[in-house]
Amino acid sequence: MLAQRPPMGWNSWNTFGGAINEQVVRDTADAIVEKGLKDAGYEYVVIDDCWSLRERNEEGRIVPNPEKFPSGMKALADYVHSKGLKFGMYSCAGTRTCAGFPGSFDYEFIDAKTFAEWGVDFLKYDFCFKPRLANGPILYNRMSMALKASGREILFSACNWGSDEVEKWIRSTGAHMYRSTGDINDSFQSFKNIAMSQVDKIAYSGPGCYNDIDMLICGMHGSGNVANGGCTDIEYRTHFALWCLFQSPLMIGGDLSKMDDFNLDLLKNKELISINQDPEARPPMMVNGGDRPVFFKHLANNEYVVAFFNFTDRSDTWGGDTVEFYDLGLTVASGYGFRFRDIFTGEDTGVLTGRLSTKVDAHDCKIFRGTLVEK
Ligand code: GAL
Repeated sequence: MLAQRPPMGWNSWNTFGGAINEQVVRDTADAIVEKGLKDAGYEYVVIDDCWSLRERNEEGRIVPNPEKFPSGMKALADYVHSKGLKFGMYSCAGTRTCAGFPGSFDYEFIDAKTFAEWGVDFLKYDFCFKPRLANGPILYNRMSMALKASGREILFSACNWGSDEVEKWIRSTGAHMYRSTGDINDSFQSFKNIAMSQVDKIAYSGPGCYNDIDMLICGMHGSGNVANGGCTDIEYRTHFALWCLFQSPLMIGGDLSKMDDFNLDLLKNKELISINQDPEARPPMMVNGGDRPVFFKHLANNEYVVAFFNFTDRSDTWGGDTVEFYDLGLTVASGYGFRFRDIFTGEDTGVLTGRLSTKVDAHDCKIFRGTLVEK
């Protein structure tokens, strides 16, 4: 069974856009292994839009652009597999992809067979240029069945940007993850708005079909295809923490040949990844809203997370940031308190009975993980 945990990997779009080619894919596969990302759990190497010629061949097959992919897709898939990784590609439910290359509408079964022959393990499936009267459930269901009929196990990654209340029907189509928002860009505003738009919808996400809040921008620093000023390292950490807390698929979008040490370490942060991969996949409860949100999340094995975010531009909050345990349902009479650990500093809070207080700087976050203990 696929996607029993949020899928992890790399996708070409955020950095390379139309400038994708086989060398980039090979170098990225090498880097995923050499830089320890494979050991951290990253598995899928995905080519997004712009990999094919503008028209199908006489047999109706999509043809990889020979200038970008001179060795062909089969050889590239073999290379990625030789690294112990999985190979992903992209198509679209409409007649054209978003960048105007051939889409799979009406060619679903032919394309699924082609992908399977090449050794594809993952298909991202977009929603541009679809006939107005053809609806998402039909189109995603059709490609999902085509992939299942292809003879190869292929993870199906839907991308309709959250339209038509996708969270309510996408699991029924057999998809394993689904984009729920418009495209991210490399800015604090972008990732903050994307994450907060999904707070009420994470409850639909879980094993077998995860809400995908888009590819990561960690370490892009204002370069690449979705550039918009870039973020500070602290902001990239807040971004990654939100994606982990919401258990989104983790698809790295940065250029691994240029990834700085801070962001490489962040992408490999064991504590955050283990929250992201938690098998129970329970949505976080929002204990406090607004621009200083606080979340409480149950993990497997009786562990809990309290996550504080400061989306304001101010670091100097009067009184600090506090979560009262009665707001989580824990009363003084229970005889229990929480013992937490700050996952970034390792600091132990000791047993706390009434509340957890901290101080979160502007655009930063604090993530605590712990258990209930008898007082
Ligand atoms: C968008 C999609 C992006 C990227 C792009 C390619 O619709 O949301 O993630 O795939 O198309 O053209």
